[in-house]
Amino acid sequence: MISHHLADSILKILLNRPEKKNAFTVSMYQELTKVLSEGDQNPEVKVILISGAGNAFSAGNDIADFMNSPITHEDAPPINLLKILAGLTKPLIAAVDGVAVGIGATMIFHCDLVYAQKDARFIFPFVSLGLVPEGAISLLLPRLIGHQRASEILLFGEALSAEDAHQVGFINKVILEPSALPYAEQRAKKLTALSSGSIMNTKSLLKGIALKKEVLHQIEVEGKLFVDRLHGPAAKEALIAFLEKRTPNFEGLE
Ligand code: COA
Repeated sequence: MISHHLADSILKILLNRPEKKNAFTVSMYQELTKVLSEGDQNPEVKVILISGAGNAFSAGNDIADFMNSPITHEDAPPINLLKILAGLTKPLIAAVDGVAVGIGATMIFHCDLVYAQKDARFIFPFVSLGLVPEGAISLLLPRLIGHQRASEILLFGEALSAEDAHQVGFINKVILEPSALPYAEQRAKKLTALSSGSIMNTKSLLKGIALKKEVLHQIEVEGKLFVDRLHGPAAKEALIAFLEKRTPNFEGLE
């Protein structure tokens, strides 16, 4: 479900569950967390590149898994993954084809370079699912575009096109070719020719020590609210509605 290999100093990671649009199961979170943290510590790795199989980046948390193995505390696999992503010291590049939903979209905010194919869609459906945002996006998005524009995106959870994402400012380039991956690979290769120490120092300066602390704190605060809401009636209704392929009815549900 998570494939990876190291070639020419680039750790290439593939979210590989195409029949479910690479939706994350608990074991996929655990695998990806392990691969990323080992890659970050491996001196042979200069750049990490992540993409999804089958014309999708990731449809986010597996909805059936949300029901069958719900997160029960803040120290849960998705939250551990987000913390690792936020703390990576090596450059992380994402190539996004197709959908990036939920954690598939919030993880983009922890990448250093993001290239998206023109038909890619970014969806933050937290409120539509009776949940709250995660991955510190409730901090990072308003910092990027202001409170009102962030509210429009996070409250309605409507899909953003690659062009929208470029205008908002969280992707570097819209790729017109059938896949963003070859371009992302070229950029990764170009980075490997540079000094890895200089790249890592620059990444650390760009992220900022104070902001990094704030981001980790926000991930924890969001995680607590997320877990509380996941066990509440609104999220239950939304998740069952998704599995029953119908619109949720939030009437009378907080
Ligand atoms: N969890 C479990 N299964 C998922 C999934 C998810 N998050 N996202 C997609 N799938 C499954 C679909 O149920 C479908 O399975 P099926 O073929 O057995 O019916 C398959 O993946 C293909 O998805 P489909 O909905 O047919 O593709 P689409 O291109 O029409 O729509 C999405 C793609 C991602 C927009 C849509 O599937 C969706 O909204 N998924 C839920 C995303 C979500 O809310 N994630 C949680 C965020 S916290």
